Amino acid sequence: MAQLWGGRFTKSTDQMVYDFNASIRFDRRLLPQDIQGSLAHVKMLAAQGILTKAEGKQIAEALEQILADVRNGSLAITEEYEDVHSFVEAVLTERIGEAGKKLHTGRSRNDQVATDMKLYVREEIDALDGLLYTLLQTLEQIMEAHTQTYMPGFTHLQKAQPVTAAHHFGAYFEMFRRDRERLADIRKRMNTCPLGAGALAGTTYPLDRDYTASLLGFDAPAANSMDAVSDRDYLVELLSALALIQMHMSRSCEEICIWNSDDYRYVEIDDAFSTGSSIMPQKKNPDIAELVRGKTGRVYGALMQMLTVMKGLPLAYNKDMQEDKEFSFDAVDTVSGCLRLYTGMLSTMRFREENLRKAALQGFTNATDAADYLVGKGVPFRDAHTVIGNMVLCCLDKGCALSDLSVAEMKQFSEVFSEDIYEALKPETCADRRNTAGGPGKEAMRQMIERNRSYLGDTIC
Ligand code: ARG
Repeated sequence: MAQLWGGRFTKSTDQMVYDFNASIRFDRRLLPQDIQGSLAHVKMLAAQGILTKAEGKQIAEALEQILADVRNGSLAITEEYEDVHSFVEAVLTERIGEAGKKLHTGRSRNDQVATDMKLYVREEIDALDGLLYTLLQTLEQIMEAHTQTYMPGFTHLQKAQPVTAAHHFGAYFEMFRRDRERLADIRKRMNTCPLGAGALAGTTYPLDRDYTASLLGFDAPAANSMDAVSDRDYLVELLSALALIQMHMSRSCEEICIWNSDDYRYVEIDDAFSTGSSIMPQKKNPDIAELVRGKTGRVYGALMQMLTVMKGLPLAYNKDMQEDKEFSFDAVDTVSGCLRLYTGMLSTMRFREENLRKAALQGFTNATDAADYLVGKGVPFRDAHTVIGNMVLCCLDKGCALSDLSVAEMKQFSEVFSEDIYEALKPETCADRRNTAGGPGKEAMRQMIERNRSYLGDTIC
């Protein structure tokens, strides 16, 4: 048991208490960020004359060596240390003696851990941004390839109006694009440096907080030292952004499970992204889509945990905050993993274009267009709606589609029908002509694809 705070105690800690209190099992992951923060702190201490230049150099070199040794496997982070901060300081002191004990001058583990966590989140936001960018590129490729893949659009999971696969996946492009923007907003807001806040009330040493902040790539030092050590808002924001990313993937995965089913057969998930059954030889299951959908629960759970941990905490630091780590790490790992798999599944998924088109012909998806056809011939929309409603009833009775009726039969409902109705009823016509901005029509899609392309060009990461 190596502790940083033994001086005030006359008894050693009960083993059970020690284990309960320790965080090394999970915060060891923050070693690179912890070293990075310490290097900046030491550099600033030396620049301010709080440490000598020689001490600063000696500590910095030893810190770099500790990181290198852990990375190359020659130094193990073991559970005999309470947390990653204690580990670093203990090894440092063991290796360089007196100078090592000076690292923590003007610092507390409270501002230290707050800094580590922010550095971690910032890195992960950048990595997530890269994953979202790759996903958006995949969606853009799907859009470009499928502007003429006609399919039913749904409301209430009932066929509604014909759209295209490009239009459908274009909707997801918008969602994941907003997700990227949300992460960028969070990164901007959280980018202040806690170091120098000390335990809660700053310190008497002449620290240069601006310098430390700039060394670590923060925009500024956090303005209030009590807020600096007790702020976890940015984690709530991150987990909320992650919950939304996961929700967007989950909705799409739900659709893919349905579309990949025997009854729909709209798409086929690639063999490399499917799994089999141990008993039913014929099975090819959409496990990946299901798991992405299923893992959404963990991510939502993490958001709830974080909100709940924070809800009653008086200022400033409380040990409860140590609980911010495990589920945040898990949520970040889960979403990153899901983004990789979801992107891979999408980029290899085959669209069964004939089945999609056939599906668009069913369910009277062209009924609105039939009414619009009548409006084009001078019939008021409300009357047209009734006429087509009556025709749908008749077709339901006969078990046929609107386009299976002859012109003569149609004329019984309205005199204005003529041969050109068949062209108007095709899914191609119905979708292509919907050119209001944002619609599935050819011109609207051309503009949307153009806009997405330039967005991807402008925001390369
Ligand atoms: N492991 C602790 C955490 O994650 C580090 C900070 C400890 N500070 C303290 N005052 N006990 O929050």
